[in-house]
Amino acid sequence: MRSYTKSIALYEKSRKHMAGGVSSNIRYASVPVPLFFARGEGARLYDVDGNVHIDYVLGNGPAILGHAPKKVVDAVAASLVEGQVFAAQHPREAELAERLSRLLPGAEVVRFATSGTEAVLMAMRLARAFTNRSKILKFEGHYHGWSDQAFISTKPSLNEAGPADAPVPVAGSPGMPPSVLDDVVVCGWNDLDLLEQALERHRGEVAGVIMEPVMVNGGAIPPLPGYLEGVRDLCRKHGALFICDEVITGFRVALGGAQAKYGVTADLVIYAKAVAAGFPLALVAGRRDVMDTLLDKGVMHGGTYNGNVQSMAAALAALDILEADNGAIYRGMEACGQRLMEGLTLLGAKHGLAMLVQGMPAIFQTFFTSAAAPRNYRDSMATDRDAMLSFHAALQEEGVRVQQGGRWFLSTAHDKPVIDETLAAADRAMAKMVRH
Ligand SMILES: Cc1ncc(COP(=O)(O)O)c(C=O)c1O
Repeated sequence: MRSYTKSIALYEKSRKHMAGGVSSNIRYASVPVPLFFARGEGARLYDVDGNVHIDYVLGNGPAILGHAPKKVVDAVAASLVEGQVFAAQHPREAELAERLSRLLPGAEVVRFATSGTEAVLMAMRLARAFTNRSKILKFEGHYHGWSDQAFISTKPSLNEAGPADAPVPVAGSPGMPPSVLDDVVVCGWNDLDLLEQALERHRGEVAGVIMEPVMVNGGAIPPLPGYLEGVRDLCRKHGALFICDEVITGFRVALGGAQAKYGVTADLVIYAKAVAAGFPLALVAGRRDVMDTLLDKGVMHGGTYNGNVQSMAAALAALDILEADNGAIYRGMEACGQRLMEGLTLLGAKHGLAMLVQGMPAIFQTFFTSAAAPRNYRDSMATDRDAMLSFHAALQEEGVRVQQGGRWFLSTAHDKPVIDETLAAADRAMAKMVRH
């Protein structure tokens, strides 16, 4: 048995002076307590008790180049002497914006922010200002940050969520004013008929339709063929903006994100996480006429740390690596991810476990179910969560760290030997699960 004595002691200490002992509620999802890590390097994390973890959480997505990627760290270190925040512009912002406009589909212009949550808020405000409408349509199970306006029906209990064909908006946290629910329409995902019906019911009211183009937070579920095109067309028909939240998929499923992978361009797109390989950076990219409302209509967007020197330096260095050789690094990551997904599927079958591996090689999910592959939030909720958690606990004992929700993030540091080591650990973990 691995020991977590020092993590437990540090958690007790943190709880004395940090509210709840952590800096983000998402970090409670860890056993036996929120773990404390001393450092990370490449595909591995080293916790304070001396346990080594092959890390598939990767900070929940940003560490696309693995932990402490040297070229990014060096670029940021070199930038430190230049200063950090000026409450003014600096040349690296313009350079990064130019590169992003070239790389990202539909990114006529970009605006930098610091976290995904705030970039989502900006995109929703832009859509409302541009269309002079107030409602945002979002999909059940999709996560767009923890704000009052967006943390709605992200993980609703099915007792509260209403019928599948017309879900009711469910606040995700105490402390959210009930009035925010009036400005949100919730819809089941991956079903164009449901979207059409919802847009008809709210004709002329919906400013924007926001979604994760691959429903990563609800289970790494890909869009059905034609779905994204259909959503784009329905948005056009109903005068609503199509807003893609590529906070996870951006720079991960392809250099140009899910938009490039599926060949569909949205009106506004939010990126964060992998874009700066671990440094805090988010952005909204999209149509110039919509983004120009920031200046033309005086739509407010601020943020002290937006465009700070170090995040810009990190993103430029990360892009140098991700863009090199026409994105060759993605092909390597895809091949390793494919090997891992296939290997896990074979191991599940070998051990007689009803395990399903779904998603794309750079971000996928392990479900426990004998049913067909989940297509939306409710399908995903019907899978065996207890089996999933016991798999994760067994994996952790074998030195593999997976997000408690069942997601596996890959980085370019997860090379073939790391994948094979992971598969050997998963083999032992599954054997243990079966024995117990
Ligand atoms: C799809 C998606 N959107 C938005 C966010 C919020 O980003 P942040 O945590 O940077 O505020 C997340 C965070 O996980 C996310 O997965």
